Amino acid sequence: MCGIIGYIGKSSPIDVLIEGLKNLEYRGYDSAGIAVKNKEEVQKVKSVGKIANLEEKINNTKLIDSNLGIAHTRWATHGSPTEINAHPHTVGNVTIVHNGIIENAEELRKKLEKENIKFNSETDTEVIAVLINKYYKDNELEAIKKALKELKGSYALGILFSGSDKLYTTRKDSPLIVGIGKNENFIASDIAAIINYTNKYILLEEGEIGEITKDKVVIYKDNKIIKKDILETDISADAKDKCGYDHYMLKEIMEEPIVLEKTFKPYLKDLSLLPNLTQYEEIHIVACGSAMYAGLIGSSLLEEFANIRVYVEVASEYRYKNIVYNKKTLVILISQSGETADTIAAMRMAKDAGIDTLAIVNVKTSTIARESDKQVFIEAGPEIAVATTKAYILQAGILSLLAYKTAKDKNLIKEDIIKEVKKLPRLLKEVLDRREEYLEIAKSIYKKDNIFFIGRKIDYSICMEGSLKLKEVSYIHSEAYQAGELKHGTISLINDGYPVFAIITDDKVKDKTISNVEEVISRGADVIIISNEKIANYKKQVIVPKINSFMQPLLVVPTLQLIAYEVAKLRNCDIDKPKNLAKSVTVE
Ligand code: G6P
Repeated sequence: MCGIIGYIGKSSPIDVLIEGLKNLEYRGYDSAGIAVKNKEEVQKVKSVGKIANLEEKINNTKLIDSNLGIAHTRWATHGSPTEINAHPHTVGNVTIVHNGIIENAEELRKKLEKENIKFNSETDTEVIAVLINKYYKDNELEAIKKALKELKGSYALGILFSGSDKLYTTRKDSPLIVGIGKNENFIASDIAAIINYTNKYILLEEGEIGEITKDKVVIYKDNKIIKKDILETDISADAKDKCGYDHYMLKEIMEEPIVLEKTFKPYLKDLSLLPNLTQYEEIHIVACGSAMYAGLIGSSLLEEFANIRVYVEVASEYRYKNIVYNKKTLVILISQSGETADTIAAMRMAKDAGIDTLAIVNVKTSTIARESDKQVFIEAGPEIAVATTKAYILQAGILSLLAYKTAKDKNLIKEDIIKEVKKLPRLLKEVLDRREEYLEIAKSIYKKDNIFFIGRKIDYSICMEGSLKLKEVSYIHSEAYQAGELKHGTISLINDGYPVFAIITDDKVKDKTISNVEEVISRGADVIIISNEKIANYKKQVIVPKINSFMQPLLVVPTLQLIAYEVAKLRNCDIDKPKNLAKSVTVE
């Protein structure tokens, strides 16, 4: 979702801005633009579609000499993805880029129109530029502060003033960092966007305003200059490399064994490093997208083995519900980015109600990591492909370990799985190495319009992620269904050659799912079984290594991720950046 990059330094900002925009592409966007500035003027170039279009336009434009600029990738919310609506927006002496949503934009626009102010675009962003410009006499900070007072909603801003050679920035409920270089400084939606220039950054907190020159960063809060820590990221520049893979999605799937080993390492030495959940009577797992589906794996295991009632909810629903909390409730937030707007809102709602929050999160400096009561970090490193793969595996993995630990803490199981879990990265690698097999399956389904995934209990949770992954990257419509529920309507869709994936790993319901497989086969379905043992004589089967119930999903989902990848590749889809999707959904 929208990306921001800004540069002030010793040389032209163009290369940094373009590279930064490319590094932010993964967030999802449909138009892009830059503004560069010198003492005399501000010059903008914008275009609809890919960064390559913008780059071409820039190459064909005579640009002014400059050492200051801001740039933006826009994922349309207010107004369609047109050049006029693309950022940066200039109003009078003010040029801005914005990430977030101004909730009272319509109200402000009407009020400003009564003051005879004319708007060029349909965006909420232009309202911010109008306000800052309205309050700008000769004091940049004052103008920003006055404008911010009128805004409701979320924003990360990069701001240029024609009368100033500084870069200004501020944020609320939308991520933004200030990158610290040598004789050059940056602003960016995330540090990874500028990692080729610096690994040092300042985390801007809400209510703070940054005033940036090439060799100084001054942060203001409530009219005072405040001292901020300079942080260092451990993300390396080559983490952003495809390392020879055709796509980030494939690279990230292949990284799963390594990141799993890294994430599990401390806990396999000492399980007590994971939080103790025994005091809770109820758990709410709240997240969005695949993170929520990882939550479903956790809920199956926690309920089955640790005897805790677990409710899994989509954050955008949860945040608006009347949740009746039991004081012994724990809310677990799952988020790769830690910046998903709805998950943040759900976390704050639980905290306001005095409920304990635990975050399973990848980005350690993110809002969710900073505001939750307790955190368990996954060590996925940067995940660039929009559709998550390795982060999902780690989220599900941590929940599986937590379920195991809780069952142990409550003396509900005797089994010791740690020795076996240590073998998991190797087994996972074996599963990933069977790409030929998955390609064959992909070839047999890639021309289909509809696909079903069926399973029961935890296998159904696996189906949910398998189906989501396939439709996200290949645009084939697919649906996950509880195998036992098919008869109540959906089976009417099955006809000759209709692909149905059947996930069959849970011993308790294996036979039941096999009966459902028979039902769809007799109606013509082309069934592909994914199991941890050979099932009868079905033609198409992928058999993954059998492991304990806690870890079994981690050997099944990767096969579905790779099948989704191969299908998308055969269909020539834009695998790493599927249309209309954003990696980090920082607006409601
Ligand atoms: C987007 C991404 C998904 C991700 C979801 C939640 O929809 O495309 O891959 O699962 O957001 O993101 P989070 O950063 O909160 O895990």
